[in-house]
Amino acid sequence: MNSGFFITFEGTEGSGKTTQIHRLTEDLTKAEHRVKMTREPGGTDIGDQIRTILLDVDNSQLSPTSELMLYAASRAQHVGQKIIPALKTGGIVVSDRFADASVAYQGYGRELDLTLIQQLNTMATNGLQPDLTFLLDLPIEIGLQRATTSRDNLDRIERETLEFHRRVRTGYLAVAAAEPDRVQVVNATQSVDEIYQQIWSITQVRLPTKALA
Ligand code: TMP
Repeated sequence: MNSGFFITFEGTEGSGKTTQIHRLTEDLTKAEHRVKMTREPGGTDIGDQIRTILLDVDNSQLSPTSELMLYAASRAQHVGQKIIPALKTGGIVVSDRFADASVAYQGYGRELDLTLIQQLNTMATNGLQPDLTFLLDLPIEIGLQRATTSRDNLDRIERETLEFHRRVRTGYLAVAAAEPDRVQVVNATQSVDEIYQQIWSITQVRLPTKALA
């Protein structure tokens, strides 16, 4: 039984997740919650090694199936080693991406079988689902422009075609439409403050619905 609360952030490239996650983690910590901020791929030493393989631009030979399985491997390690133990002690876990990303990127983006991805996700997560997910949604062109101007080098996934990224956005919106209660869509073209106000108020409403240690 988990007594904690699990929040995930999702979005296409350049959606501003990282800034929002840092702010939320800081405010929850100030409110005296025990918070663990983490990310996928990664979140553990082994996951970080897998992340390096996945994002390395030299790995252009990586097949879509290998890619899917590496994301799942990183997730399995993350859930078992970090997320579940933190939730069991009543903490809040805030993760930059989780299982929905495989549906959006490998399912819609790479066009791999969605049922298979769900099964793999169930195996990797041991059935764990976020209590609350924020989907920061914005047009692909705006996000990629932001990603390009903020960094010199784009990673292997960011370098994908505009069509790929458009399919990913469609995938995320489909996930949100299927689970409107868990997945809260936030318009990420708004200012950082406007976006955060929505995230903070939704989090405050949702947190007390689950007992916190
Ligand atoms: P990040 O840039 O948000 O840290 O995520 C790394 C990249 O990995 C990003 O382009 C999204 C991608 N990704 C997938 O394709 N599938 C997944 O399951 C996850 C977690 C991330």
